[in-house]
Amino acid sequence: MPVIETQGLKKTYGSGQTRVEALRGVDLTIHTGEMVAIIGPSGCGKSSLLALLGGVDLPTEGRVLLEDTDLASLSDDQRTIARRQRIGFIFQSFNLLPTLTAAENVALPLELDGVSRAESMQRALSALSSLEMEARAGHLPSEMSGGEQQRVAIARALVIQPALLLADEPTGNLDTANSQRTVALLKKLVASGDQTIVVVTHDMEVAQQATRIIRLRDGMIEHDGPPNQETPELDASGQESPDGNTADDTSTSDSLQDSKR
Ligand SMILES: Nc1ncnc2c1ncn2[C@@H]1O[C@H](COP(=O)(O)OP(=O)(O)OP(=O)(O)O)[C@@H](O)[C@H]1O
Ligand SMILES: [Mg+2]
Repeated sequence: MPVIETQGLKKTYGSGQTRVEALRGVDLTIHTGEMVAIIGPSGCGKSSLLALLGGVDLPTEGRVLLEDTDLASLSDDQRTIARRQRIGFIFQSFNLLPTLTAAENVALPLELDGVSRAESMQRALSALSSLEMEARAGHLPSEMSGGEQQRVAIARALVIQPALLLADEPTGNLDTANSQRTVALLKKLVASGDQTIVVVTHDMEVAQQATRIIRLRDGMIEHDGPPNQETPELDASGQESPDGNTADDTSTSDSLQDSKR
C-alpha cells in the first residue's frame, strides 16, 4: 500500500503580480520502506511539496492521500492528530520551542498524545542519545549551536516512530561527520522495515543514499528514479557542471555553502 500519494498536486501562492505557481501538477506515489530524496534548484517547490505531503499546508488543486485518506477531507483537528501520530516533520528552520529544553522539546509530541511525563522524557532521552545529543538534554535552543538544534529537531521527529518521516534539509547545518551519522541513522530506520522517509536535500551525497531520487524543476517532476542512474551533468542544485559532476565536487561546494551559513 502506498504510504502517501499525490494526484495532480498544484500550489499557488499570492495573486496578481505576486502570484507564484510553486507546484504545477505533481503525481507521486511513495511506498512503505522507500527513502526518497527530493532535489532541485532553490525555489523549485521542494519545501512546498513537503508541507503538502505532511498536511502542514493544503493544495490549491489536487489531492494528497495519507494511507488512503485524503488530507483535505479531515478537519483541522483530525489533520493535526494524523500528523502527530503518523508523520515526523523536520523543518528547514527547526521550529523548536524556545522556552523548552532539548529533552522537553523532543518529549512534547508524546506528551500531547497522552504518554506519561516520565515515559515521554525517557523516550526523549533515548532519541537524543541516538543522535549523540544526550549531553545537551537540559539546554534551551538558544544555548545550542545550529547543528545541535537540528539534531534535537530530528530526535523530536523520530521519537513518535512515525510511519512517514518528512525532512527538509535535515543535514543542512551539520558537519560532515554528523551529516553522515544522521544519514546512517535514517537509512537504518528505513532498513528496519515500517519506516518511510522523504528527504529534501541539496547534498548529492545524502541523495545518493536514498532508494529513489526525485528531481523537481519549476514545480514539476523532471526526473524520478534510483540513484546512480542520473545524467552525468546532474548535481543536487539541478545545475549543469561543465566538467561533469562528481559527488566530490558537490560535497566541496556544499561545505563551502555550509561555512557561509
Ligand atoms: N508562503 C509563500 N508565499 C508566497 N510565495 C511562496 C511562499 N512559500 C514559497 N513561495 C514561493 O514558491 C516557490 C517555491 O518555494 P519553496 O520554498 O517550495 O522552494 P524550495 O525548492 O524549497 O527552495 P529552497 O531550496 O530555497 O528551500 C518559490 O518561488 C517561493 O518564492
Ligand atoms: Mg526549501
